[in-house]
Amino acid sequence: MELQAAIEQRKSIRGFLDKPVPKEVLTQILTLSVRAPSTKNAQPWHFYVLAKEPLEQLKRANVERFRSPEGPPEEMAHVLVEPEKGTVYRDRQIDIGKRLFTIMGIGREDKAKRIEWVERGFRYFDAPAAIIIVGDKSRPIEGTYMDAGLVTQTVCLAALDFGLGTCIENQGITYSDAIRKIVQIPDDKRLLVAIAIGYPDWDFSGNQITSPREDMENVVTWCGL
Ligand SMILES: Cc1cc2nc3c(=O)[nH]c(=O)nc-3n(C[C@H](O)[C@H](O)[C@H](O)COP(=O)(O)O)c2cc1C
Repeated sequence: MELQAAIEQRKSIRGFLDKPVPKEVLTQILTLSVRAPSTKNAQPWHFYVLAKEPLEQLKRANVERFRSPEGPPEEMAHVLVEPEKGTVYRDRQIDIGKRLFTIMGIGREDKAKRIEWVERGFRYFDAPAAIIIVGDKSRPIEGTYMDAGLVTQTVCLAALDFGLGTCIENQGITYSDAIRKIVQIPDDKRLLVAIAIGYPDWDFSGNQITSPREDMENVVTWCGL
């Protein structure tokens, strides 16, 4: 796939075919992805790649944790930040949520469908594979986050070349306690993000939306051009 087309066509995929992703394909994607740049070539990332039983176990554990009255562990505060009311960021969050719920036929008052949607997110949108990216707790979160972002987008773009779709998911690492137990992530690692990955189900209505973007000219200040 051409690079420009890949950048343009990448979108979050929230419905997948029930078709496993071969380990060789995931290996190729990750081999390409670790070419991503990082601060001082720190490469402050480690990938936990899950499929089959461990992933199914984690999907169940996430949903169980969501249904329990206990909230997420304190250590996950860095990914659970909500945009402030009255800001453009909040407006954009509401807008994308509305678009998704409209196309999925989930009404404002339909609590059952809303909960099912949230649980779907905790099940990595029923993807056949998921990648959890972690970094060292000893490194400051700010720099690590930048580097993790670069490698995350690289995974998403590389995946497209193999016919795969992805959804980057903070939701997927909300219950770090459950994940640590099942995947055995050591305490000195910080969970940074999850990526649901699989073959897109193009009949799934949630995959039909293209999220809007601010006009380029509104986010660029030209200097000397
Ligand atoms: C760090 C990060 C965390 C995200 N977490 C979630 C998530 O928990 N659930 C979800 O459905 N989408 C999540 N997304 C996807 C965004 O909602 C999506 O990228 C955005 O709406 C733009 O849409 P697009 O990816 O289709 O272009 C996340 C994206 C990023 C970059």
